[in-house]
Amino acid sequence: MSVEETPVSLNRSPGPTYRQILDSDRVKPADHFYEESPYFSGTDPIPVSRYISREFHELEKKYMWRTTWQMACREEHIPAVGDTFVYEICDMSFLIVRSAPDEIRAYWNFCRHRGRQLVSQSTWTPVLRCPFHSFTWNLDGTLAYVPTEWDFPHIDKDELGLLSVGVGRWGGFVFINPSPNGESLEDYMGEMVEHTAPWHFETRFVEAHVAKVFNANWKIVEEAFMESFHVAATHPQQMVRLGDVNTQYDCYDNFSRALHPSGVPSPLLKWTPTEQEMLDNMLDIREGEESIIVLPEGETLRSFAAIVGRDQLRPARDPNSA
Ligand code: FES
Repeated sequence: MSVEETPVSLNRSPGPTYRQILDSDRVKPADHFYEESPYFSGTDPIPVSRYISREFHELEKKYMWRTTWQMACREEHIPAVGDTFVYEICDMSFLIVRSAPDEIRAYWNFCRHRGRQLVSQSTWTPVLRCPFHSFTWNLDGTLAYVPTEWDFPHIDKDELGLLSVGVGRWGGFVFINPSPNGESLEDYMGEMVEHTAPWHFETRFVEAHVAKVFNANWKIVEEAFMESFHVAATHPQQMVRLGDVNTQYDCYDNFSRALHPSGVPSPLLKWTPTEQEMLDNMLDIREGEESIIVLPEGETLRSFAAIVGRDQLRPARDPNSA
């Protein structure tokens, strides 16, 4: 989708569009920031059944979770040969294995003897040994050992390798696809690879991982964290310097994005803050307190924050520039 081809969405807020905000910025971003996709499905209501029905959940399992690329872990979770990571989704369990210094494989996580779960938690192991009767597989999935082999004269060891699934690596993330004949991860991601290239995810690491189990369909939780419609009611203090309802949502083939305009007031605000008031709000300066940073005459918060942000992030993006 080129900049010229992108249509303008209907049903938007009366405030400036994200593209208009970019036009007023001094430094121009990459072209894809100017792209804008229409609402593919209009504004028709989404059936509630998609969020609560067992039948729809079963369809998601069958046609999505069993057939699509999904992030399972980071490469730094399995740095050494023999490191394994257990990834579970719905009623499926997969085993991600560092099988060689630069090789990662993934298998359905069950024993090919009687189907017991092969590995129950992420660990390091020289081989993959089933805890039930000790059938054992090499890290490359080939069958290595059959106990009391004389009792199994009928089996062909070459046919009892672990069942592998597709593995894709991007930016330090390890993806799996239970359907190994699907398209490559790179083709699946499409333009997202280009959009995120400047962030060099391959140089990042997990510093903390916080998890919580919700008794809800995954879309309920996901959508609560990816829209800014709730800002005015839930985080009203941010309205002074966040164009919440001017957020632009775009749908690409297999990914979507949300562009939140920072450094501009919410169109829902009943007064117009100055650039200094927006900065004070960002720095949590309260009524009666002195501004700790005073913007130069004519400077905007967006421009000022962008300069400060670029200076702070430059060493992380390019360590040689520090
Ligand atoms: S179930 Fe795994 S070795 Fe028998």
